[in-house]
Amino acid sequence: MIIAIDGPAASGKGTIGKRVAAHYGFRHLDTGLIYRAVAKSVLEDGALDNPADAIRAAQSLDPFRFAEDDLKADEVGKAASVISVIPEVRSALLAFQRDFAKSLPGAVLDGRDIGTVIAPEAEVKIFVTATPQERARRRALELKGRGQAVDEQAILADIVQRDERDTNRAVAPLKQAPDAHLLDTTHLDIDAAVRAAIDIVEAVRAGRGRG
Ligand code: DC
Repeated sequence: MIIAIDGPAASGKGTIGKRVAAHYGFRHLDTGLIYRAVAKSVLEDGALDNPADAIRAAQSLDPFRFAEDDLKADEVGKAASVISVIPEVRSALLAFQRDFAKSLPGAVLDGRDIGTVIAPEAEVKIFVTATPQERARRRALELKGRGQAVDEQAILADIVQRDERDTNRAVAPLKQAPDAHLLDTTHLDIDAAVRAAIDIVEAVRAGRGRG
C-alpha cells in the first residue's frame, strides 16, 4: 500500500508521515530531504543561481550523504525550494522516489507532489494544511525550543514566500490531488493530527474491503 501525504512547509506532514508509517510498519520517505540534500550540495559546492550546478548535484546525488539535522536548517529549506523548480532536478529524483514507493509491505511518502506526480496510484492521499500564521507559530516554537532567537514575522514572511514558489512553479506544483483527503491541522495538536490521518487510512481500507 502507498500512502501519499502532501502539504506546504511546516504543515506537520513530516511528523504525521513518520508516525503513520510507524503505526502500520511501513517505510517512510520525507522527500523534502532529497531536495534539501541537492540544495546542500549546491550551497557547499556550487552556485544557487546556476541551474547546471543543481542538475549535476541531483544526477549524482547520494541521498544518505548528509545528516538529517544539517538538512533541516532554514537556509537549506529555502535553497531546496529554489532548486526544486528546475525540471531536470525533479526528473533526476523521480526514479528513487518511485522505487521507494514500491516498498513492501507499504510506504508512506511525504512532499509536495506525491499524490499528483510521484505516486498518482497511491491508495490513500492526504493533503495536510494549516494557516500560514499557525505554521509560523509552530516553527517559532520549535526554534525557541532549540534555544535559537526567533522573529516570528520573518518566519511568516518566509513561509508565505515558500508557499508562493512551491504552488506557482510550472512543474509538479504543490496542489491537492482531486482524490486527496484534506486534513486541516490548524486547530489540532500533533497527536490529534496523527489520529485523524490514521482515521482517513482506516476509512479508505474499510471502503476498499467492502468494494
Ligand atoms: O518539505 P520541506 O520543507 O522539507 O521541502 C523543502 C523544499 O523542497 C520545498 O520548499 C519544495 C521542495 N520539495 C518539492 O519540490 N517536492 C517535494 N516532493 C518535496 C519538497
